[in-house]
Amino acid sequence: MNNIECIINEATEKIKNADIVVLENLKVEYLGRNGILTQILKSLSQYSIEDKKRIGLEANKAKSIIENEIDKKKESLKKALLDEKVQKEKLDYSSSFYFPFSKGSFHPVIQTIQDISSVFKSLGFSVAEGPEIETDWYNFEALNIPESHPARDTQDTFYLDNVKNLLRTHTSSGQIRVMEKQKPPIKVIVPGRVYRNEASDASHSSTFHQIEGLVVDENVTFVDLKAVLSNFIHKFFGFELGVRFRPSHFQFTEPSAEVDMQCPFCKGNGCRVCKNSGWIETLGCGMVHPNVLKAVSYDPGKYTAYAFGIGVERITMFKHGIDDIRLFYENDLRFLKQF
Ligand code: PHE
Repeated sequence: MNNIECIINEATEKIKNADIVVLENLKVEYLGRNGILTQILKSLSQYSIEDKKRIGLEANKAKSIIENEIDKKKESLKKALLDEKVQKEKLDYSSSFYFPFSKGSFHPVIQTIQDISSVFKSLGFSVAEGPEIETDWYNFEALNIPESHPARDTQDTFYLDNVKNLLRTHTSSGQIRVMEKQKPPIKVIVPGRVYRNEASDASHSSTFHQIEGLVVDENVTFVDLKAVLSNFIHKFFGFELGVRFRPSHFQFTEPSAEVDMQCPFCKGNGCRVCKNSGWIETLGCGMVHPNVLKAVSYDPGKYTAYAFGIGVERITMFKHGIDDIRLFYENDLRFLKQF
């Protein structure tokens, strides 16, 4: 009996530290046809009936205990092996071991759109999108720019198959689409790509990006417009910079203004970037023209609105000191990798 207990203890200890090969050997050593416990059971005939019963019972119990221990250990070894395998196969996508090329990043224009959007989101704006291929109605007509109006000449439009389809020249078309779908109050920005049929140079490109803003509600005033746009410029470029509103003209806003901010490079003292004026033209804006509200069946007696348009490339160029707009579209990795 003591002997059998010793066998169990000894086996359990060995099993604890065994690997899969040792485990197989232990199985043979204790439970095999010539194993220790089998030997004991075979030798029972020499004992009295009572001892036979007792020793037989203990030996069989020991057999099943050891068998159980071996099985348990086998399971835990298998699991450990599997875990190790899973761990090894788990890919670390950021590791240069698996990917010999470095991680990508957002294009600087996209980064600016994201940054500007998050400032406006923090001011309660939502974000919408519109199509790049537009009809004459959304791009011009509904924005108070009737056919044959001279204002169309300034837009250098790319017309498509017929004069009714075109590549949008500004994101202002997004204003109309939002107002058509929603009822006031509206507080939205519409970022997107726009197209102009013009020769490219360091400051012009036939495609660029704008972010349109639109707020419609009862009692919206020019004061609200000034507050939100000044706040945007301060949050985006710095609170110390001065902001000024200059009278301007857009067909779809009345009154219209252009917003300048003090040059962030020279803080208004005059430098190369601001061409010594101390100010940088930042965006166009104004109170939405009553004709535009009528075009989407809003009552201009009830609702007022303001709108603004921000040139994304322009802002990105000022932010990073980039002096040629064409760099954004050449996909030169030496340029892109800096962002
Ligand atoms: N759509 C104008 C442009 O492309 C910008 C603008 C938007 C001006 C909204 C006023 C209001 O120049």
